[in-house]
Amino acid sequence: MTSVLNKHLLPVYDKPMIYYPLSILMMAGVRDVLIISSPEDLPFFRDLLGDGKRFGIKLTYAVQPAPEGLAQAFIIGREFVGKDDVAMILGDNIFFGNAMKEKLTAAIDNVKRGKATIFGYHVPNPERFGVIEFDKAGRVLSIEEKPKRPRSNYAAAGLYFYDNRVIEFARRVRPSWRNELEITDINSMYLEAGDLEAIPLGRGFSWMDAGTPESLAEASSLIRMIERHQGLKVACLEEIALRNGWVGREELERIAESYGNSDYGKYISKILQEGILY
Ligand code: G1P
Repeated sequence: MTSVLNKHLLPVYDKPMIYYPLSILMMAGVRDVLIISSPEDLPFFRDLLGDGKRFGIKLTYAVQPAPEGLAQAFIIGREFVGKDDVAMILGDNIFFGNAMKEKLTAAIDNVKRGKATIFGYHVPNPERFGVIEFDKAGRVLSIEEKPKRPRSNYAAAGLYFYDNRVIEFARRVRPSWRNELEITDINSMYLEAGDLEAIPLGRGFSWMDAGTPESLAEASSLIRMIERHQGLKVACLEEIALRNGWVGREELERIAESYGNSDYGKYISKILQEGILY
């Protein structure tokens, strides 16, 4: 599936995978986004998403020459981040749940108090992920990358909120056994400093890493079911931009037309006419 097309551009039901993580950043109010991918794949992301104007955001692109780990994002992106706080989301992570917005607001509030924030999700196969161990009060005790003997069933989802120390912490990370700069090492540094919080994504919440054929099919089924039941789309970036007040109605009408007769374009026209409340 990915020999000529980057994984994050494969469809999850009715839109490219990258739309889903982008929608989460937009829901968090993030308007300045750096997309990092391999040299051969980056032009495709640029073709698909452009400068981000039609979503009311600013997109910048940077190359990761080799797949040397997630923590490298903060080395490649250090100038982009500058002196700011920063969030990172993985291109194959799909979050869906009613309380998402409140959880994002909580993460941003945490970062303002100097606490890095990650998200824990109960899974049957924790050894595939970063694994978070909690105490009874919900505080993080440890975080381990792909442990052989996981200390809990809570995976660390691929969404991270950091203060500016992350740039310095990333510089200190050394390659792991799989020769990657692990994001889990950055999280461990925050933990050691007493500044790591994990927000639980509880029951009734869906989180998926759509990076395997099985989970890709499951993600498509989930989105299809939700969208068909409600008649509302998940991760329609133009809709989020409208709700955030980042694009005007007239602009959106033009954008809807540019999608021609597609289902996606018709949906944008529909939300403009219907004035959906929530
Ligand atoms: C990465 C992270 C891991 C996290 C996972 C979430 O794993 O290293 O901690 O739980 O994403 O999708 P990878 O995709 O590199 O196997």
